[in-house]
Amino acid sequence: MLKKLKKFAKDALAVPQVRRAYERTTLGVLEVFGSNRPAATAYSVLGLGTFNREQYGILAGRRAYYRNLSRARHSHVELRRNVHRLEKGILMEPRREVFARDYIEETVDFYGLAVRGRGPGTGIDDVELRWADAVLAEYFSVVAPGEPVVDRARAAYEALPKPDGVVVDRPLFPYAQSDIKRSDVSYDDLLALAHQRRSVRWFEDRPVPRELIDKALVVGREAPTACNRLPYEFLVFDDADAVQKVASIPFGAGGYGHQIPTVIVVKGRFDSYFSPRDRHVPYVDASLAAMGFMLALETLGLSSSVINWPDFEPLEMKMQKTLGLAPYERVVFLIAVGYPRPDALVASSPKKSLDVMRSFNALAE
Ligand SMILES: Cc1cc2nc3c(=O)[nH]c(=O)nc-3n(C[C@H](O)[C@H](O)[C@H](O)COP(=O)(O)O)c2cc1C
Repeated sequence: MLKKLKKFAKDALAVPQVRRAYERTTLGVLEVFGSNRPAATAYSVLGLGTFNREQYGILAGRRAYYRNLSRARHSHVELRRNVHRLEKGILMEPRREVFARDYIEETVDFYGLAVRGRGPGTGIDDVELRWADAVLAEYFSVVAPGEPVVDRARAAYEALPKPDGVVVDRPLFPYAQSDIKRSDVSYDDLLALAHQRRSVRWFEDRPVPRELIDKALVVGREAPTACNRLPYEFLVFDDADAVQKVASIPFGAGGYGHQIPTVIVVKGRFDSYFSPRDRHVPYVDASLAAMGFMLALETLGLSSSVINWPDFEPLEMKMQKTLGLAPYERVVFLIAVGYPRPDALVASSPKKSLDVMRSFNALAE
């Protein structure tokens, strides 16, 4: 039914007079509703649910955030945010004698919940616990004693069990910028890699080793992410039936979806935020991670192509059902991954010139 409707609309819009009439009507509607904020608000009420799924996702996410505050989980977003804030307080110049008065007690509470919830089979992120522990220990060592709120938090922290050791690649609290490990990747190497990454849509008929996906994800997760929350997940499908189920849902893989060896759904989580002001962050953070991931794939002999995920209700419903998504979990996009077929074509897709896409000091008058 949906396919028939889509074909009908496509055929109709191919007729120039129909297309022009459609464009004129659309512009007329937008001249009214796109002209000011009250009109835009009216549109969102009248707009047959255009923005409704997003709004529900944001509210359901905030509800889940507040509900989760008292539950031990694999990862604790409120703890991550506060530990990140403590790290910024520690590295601030000049560092204040006492900082984080307004949130240090809740941070120790969050940490206590997480560290007491750990144990065999709980799946709680060990690095997260070690990081929280190391930053809290550093905080209490640099903040002057004598403030009742800090002293209470210190006593509560010291009464908590210590998390077990895990090996990580860097100190778990603020360290000297001169100690950042330098790579010897040159600008020319990086530019060559950026040129090498093209959207590749035709793949060899061979499986993608899972360890290569993981290696690329290790690079992707190093991307910047607001308050170090990492509000996204990469759902990897490499079983042929599962790939077909998932890759056939978006329109964007039409014509080549059948030969994708591995498809990844990049999913953002709105339950990472207490405020709607952060509603764009899952999309931003997931995209930054995806870029590193795709570049890393290239270094491992693999290629990829992003598949669009428009907010289109029938497809949203299908994907939600196929993956069992919660209302606060939103697909950002999909990524097709595989070994590039050398004999297939790739689009040239030259980029905009810098003069068009970049400006300096462009303040409004
Ligand atoms: C958000 C996003 C959505 C995209 N959606 C699709 C898609 O649905 N189907 C497709 O074949 N390519 C898709 N692409 C790939 C773009 O067409 C491609 O990145 C662009 O043309 C530039 O080419 P390049 O990636 O080779 O530089 C998408 C890319 C992005 C970033």
